[in-house]
Amino acid sequence: MSHTPFFAKNTGYQAWLGYNRLAGKRLEQYADYRRIVVAEQDEIIASAVAELVRGLEGMLGQPPEISHIWDGGSDIVIGTIGGSTLLQEFIDEETRAGIGAEGFAIQSDPSTGRIAIGAVSSVGVLYGVFHLLRLIDIGSPISAIHIVENPVNQLRMINQWDNIDGSIERGYAGNSIFYTDGKITSDLQRIRDYARLLASTGVNALSINNVNVHRLETRLITEAYLPEVAGLAGIFRNYGIKLFLSINYAAPLEIGSLPTADPLDPEVQRWWRERAADIYRYIPDFGGFLVKADSENRPGPFTYGRDHADGANMLAEALDPHGGVVIWRCFVYNCKQDWRDRKTDRARAAYDHFVPLDSRFNDNVILQVKNGPIDFQVREPVSPLLGAMPATNQMIEFQLTQEYTGQQRHVCYLVPQWKEVLEFDTYLQGEGTPIKRIVDGSVHGSRYSGFAAVSNIGDDANWTGHLLAQANLYGYGRLAWNPELTIEEIAEEWIRLTFGDDERVVGTIRGILLDSISIYESYTAPLGIGFMVNPNHHYGPNVDGYEYSMWGTYHFADCRGIGVDRTKATGTGYTAQYAEPNYRLYESLESCPDELLLFFHHVPYTHVLHSGKTVIQHIYNTHFEGAERAARLGEAWDSLAGLIPDSLHKQVAVRLAEQAEHAKEWRDQINTYFFRKSGIPDERGRRIY
Ligand code: GCU
Repeated sequence: MSHTPFFAKNTGYQAWLGYNRLAGKRLEQYADYRRIVVAEQDEIIASAVAELVRGLEGMLGQPPEISHIWDGGSDIVIGTIGGSTLLQEFIDEETRAGIGAEGFAIQSDPSTGRIAIGAVSSVGVLYGVFHLLRLIDIGSPISAIHIVENPVNQLRMINQWDNIDGSIERGYAGNSIFYTDGKITSDLQRIRDYARLLASTGVNALSINNVNVHRLETRLITEAYLPEVAGLAGIFRNYGIKLFLSINYAAPLEIGSLPTADPLDPEVQRWWRERAADIYRYIPDFGGFLVKADSENRPGPFTYGRDHADGANMLAEALDPHGGVVIWRCFVYNCKQDWRDRKTDRARAAYDHFVPLDSRFNDNVILQVKNGPIDFQVREPVSPLLGAMPATNQMIEFQLTQEYTGQQRHVCYLVPQWKEVLEFDTYLQGEGTPIKRIVDGSVHGSRYSGFAAVSNIGDDANWTGHLLAQANLYGYGRLAWNPELTIEEIAEEWIRLTFGDDERVVGTIRGILLDSISIYESYTAPLGIGFMVNPNHHYGPNVDGYEYSMWGTYHFADCRGIGVDRTKATGTGYTAQYAEPNYRLYESLESCPDELLLFFHHVPYTHVLHSGKTVIQHIYNTHFEGAERAARLGEAWDSLAGLIPDSLHKQVAVRLAEQAEHAKEWRDQINTYFFRKSGIPDERGRRIY
């Protein structure tokens, strides 16, 4: 199709929507699908038709015809059940009954070869089209299919951390695609292609500016920007994605000339009601506000002696008449707190702040909780706040952008981490209360719930900087749609859609992706302790580099041992935020899982892990092995030369070579630090630099 940017070819720009030409038997299998039958018209259906045309033309080599009538042949008939009598006829009653608001059914008729994609809503039709294209692209037979799919999670959101000056907070793939030099972009084609990528995985909500809202972004909710914000909202609307804005809690002071931003002040309330009305005049289906308040120096209700519920509810009341929601982040802690008493603990903060407020939040407020209690480390326990507020809507927040997981210079496929979080059993309603059922809203019967994730895209030609990081964007959307999909299924889908079906390619890349997080973990901070990165930019090793280290090292390493005692018995008491039996699992040194040992306990270097190794020997072993395994990733990738386009091969080869070098630096800095601290040599006599 037209309108593809000039640099798109073989740069990774098309990502998993490349729709490469099929050949041989694969092509024959689908060669009869030459006509699309569609009898309805709206923007989303138009997107669905355009995508189907693009996909079929790309894969089958000729553009399909479009018709309003079915003439008995092997056509692809698409539409809503309410809007098309054909769909009512072609999708049987029982199947129709199983289709939810955003779901779809695909049913083929083996006798005529006809395929029907039917849904309740237009967006369901769009999702069905993406699903069918995916099946064709990976070579699944479609002549006798009967599929019903409904998204498990209601909100499937991406948070951009983009600033209007074009920079991106924690962005590792170039500059913003949304803004340049204080203005909203005019490159709307790129925005459209982003909407296609997101919709193809099922994402249905997007906030378009950084949660840290600076001076210029504060004005996004004013007439100065709203006409163009509405333009963006229109593009995303065509793909079933609702637009949200991050707001500055102090906006009434900063741009409203009010003397206060106190949520209980009637003038402040009126000001926000007026802003909400303005926004909805431009964007009738505006999603709502995303708010970071009273955290990391951002303003919030605390200034006025109010709490988070007062703060969130005031905004919720302003949005309520228009159907909007407030997504209030729980990443709240005092970054200046003095923890030398060994009782004060950043990990406790979110739970301590929010649990006492359960039932105080309006029902159009959703609390957004990071997956772990600290900050997107490669290894953390699951946040005990998730599920601990039965009367409050909650959603989980993941981080696609690899702030602490290699910054898209190292490969780190994060789906295994997210799966582990989602499967974690909280025991909040007895055995079998996993996180996935809390965030899908079923455990507490929440009105709103779902997934959010910090985006990993920028204006790099391939969107994510590291080509393999596209797998995280893809995998996130697929998992938000259906958390039951396996790590392997998601990896394999992405690889086949992106690189084709050569089994050597598929097997090698699958191996790289599946190993990547354990490799990254092994040469970076050990046993769940976290950080150990350079302050501020957070790239590269620095054992004592935690930026809020004015009170000493957060990991308490000295010549005898390391780790944070978070037990109830002798430490910060964080373990008590978990329900039984998780509380006891973590509280006891005997049962605490090795990989989280230093998160929960302070131990001597000679402490013996369940693995049979001492802590110090574990550190040495994993760091030596991690650097070696990182080098082998590059070797595996090299074996694919000639099997995938050179330009794609080269981009990844360069990154993997860099990763191998940096892994050595990690190995050397970490091993040296602990050798010097402990004075204990490596039992295998390897050289420590
Ligand atoms: C981390 C990150 C910040 C970000 C913050 C947040 O601390 O380093 O850049 O603003 O998370 O999630 O709000």
